[in-house]
Amino acid sequence: MENILEIRNVYKYFGSFCANKDISLTVKKGSVHSIIGENGAGKSTLMNMISGIYQPSMGEIFVKGQSVNFKNPNDAAKYGIGMVHQEFMLFPELTVLENLMMGYETKKLGIFLDKKVARKEIEEICKKYHFSLPLDEHVEDLPVSVLQQVEIVKVLYKGADIIILDEPTAVLTPQGIQGLFDAIRALTDKQKTIILITHKLNEVMEISDYITVLKNGKVTGNLTPSEADEKKLASLMVGREVLFNTQKKEKEIGDVILSVENLVVNNDEDISKVKGVSFSVRSGEIVGVAGVAGSGQTELVEALFGLRRPSEGKVSYKGEDFTYASPRERRCKKIGYVPQDRLSIGCSVNSNLIENSIMGYHVAHGFKNSFIIDKKEAKDFTQNIVDGFKVKAGSLNNAVRSLSGGNIQKLIVGREFIQDNDLLIIEDPTRGIDVGSIEFIWQEIIKISEKGVGVLLISHELNEVMELSDRILVMYDGKITTNRPAKELDEQTIGLYMLGGASDE
Ligand SMILES: Nc1ncnc2c1ncn2[C@@H]1O[C@H](COP(=O)(O)OP(=O)(O)OP(=O)(O)O)[C@@H](O)[C@H]1O
Ligand SMILES: [Mg+2]
Repeated sequence: MENILEIRNVYKYFGSFCANKDISLTVKKGSVHSIIGENGAGKSTLMNMISGIYQPSMGEIFVKGQSVNFKNPNDAAKYGIGMVHQEFMLFPELTVLENLMMGYETKKLGIFLDKKVARKEIEEICKKYHFSLPLDEHVEDLPVSVLQQVEIVKVLYKGADIIILDEPTAVLTPQGIQGLFDAIRALTDKQKTIILITHKLNEVMEISDYITVLKNGKVTGNLTPSEADEKKLASLMVGREVLFNTQKKEKEIGDVILSVENLVVNNDEDISKVKGVSFSVRSGEIVGVAGVAGSGQTELVEALFGLRRPSEGKVSYKGEDFTYASPRERRCKKIGYVPQDRLSIGCSVNSNLIENSIMGYHVAHGFKNSFIIDKKEAKDFTQNIVDGFKVKAGSLNNAVRSLSGGNIQKLIVGREFIQDNDLLIIEDPTRGIDVGSIEFIWQEIIKISEKGVGVLLISHELNEVMELSDRILVMYDGKITTNRPAKELDEQTIGLYMLGGASDE
């Protein structure tokens, strides 16, 4: 196979910090080349140089044998390089077709938008690579799996031969992941090249032709799936064996701390997404919520944290009516929240680490004694999170934007865990987190429950729910189809409840 992309001795410095050190790598045409590594290893930085967002501090990049010097993503696009970022960049109120045509109107089609021509070209691309896109539907009405396909078709429409996917599966359901893999196979069959970043090692083994491991900004391994297994990859990434054995002690489950009765929650279109659910969480108990994405978990969590008003039912917390309490009241009364969408709800990327660490808590516990936030106290508090949760960061005064994706997640999880909360509502706590740190965060969740904190864990990772929970609720179509001690449930049974094939109601 021909080398379509070659990276020779590339370095990237941010100030004095070296995020990529002497990286050399060749990518073969028509292959799936996975890049794996710990949070902060330098994966996104490298991809951002290939796609023209950053420029290397030293070293050279060759595309199709030619030395290139991209000033911006448009330069990279001219050489057939396209990147699909984890945070989608689509306009919600426009249709799929309009989104696909964005940025093309003038260059390709003259001053007037020729939707007909564009539609025909896009339909051909979809046919060739087996995508099926609802071109006339508005982006805001579509599920993430479809949006991701829109992003891929967008780069194909720009003429990409090398497609970089940065953690594309983090937002997908198992079915969505298989759909993406089918699309990847259709693309490589037609000699497109895929560079894939993922933390899920089973996916790496399934889809890759080649695997490159990064650690601390350097390449530490180049191998093929036949030379590897998940264990070997994990230890190459983190430099030690990863066991995934959570250690649970016998613990006392206390009184009910959160009680939900017949809760009904509607979405923005006033359609019921939570259809009368009742359950409770006790002190010291980890209650896991499993379910296919879109089964009402999001709306349930939003209602429980005061971000969405329930239309019926009652929420009690420590015996008090909390149905309509504001997020601030909830925080003051020691309810912590780790949202799924870390960039838009979880933090403010342009603020620094200290500001983000005390955010939401400045009027709650910890910083309530004065009008002016005690800077030293805030700094020490942040340092505690950074140390305790192994957040890889330069200075605490840096903007959160400069952290890697997984490290932003660790900062948010740490912020919520390090307070003396009595109830934690956590959504996908290990999304985008490397295998070594997952083990650590799982252990922290168990430890915090052993201290008597009630935990409501909503996760799209079934193994996470099964590994951690004392009790498991399964949601299907806005209802709880089962609510049982975790030890009574196995993966198959949960799967059946998740798909509506069984219900205890
Ligand atoms: N613009 C920037 N300014 C300063 N430091 C940066 C910047 N971008 C990245 N870094 C630093 O470079 C290192 C590598 O970050 P990068 O985003 O490449 O990691 P990653 O391997 O993609 O991690 P993750 O798995 O968490 O997404 C991190 O320590 C990060 O803080
Ligand atoms: Mg990254």
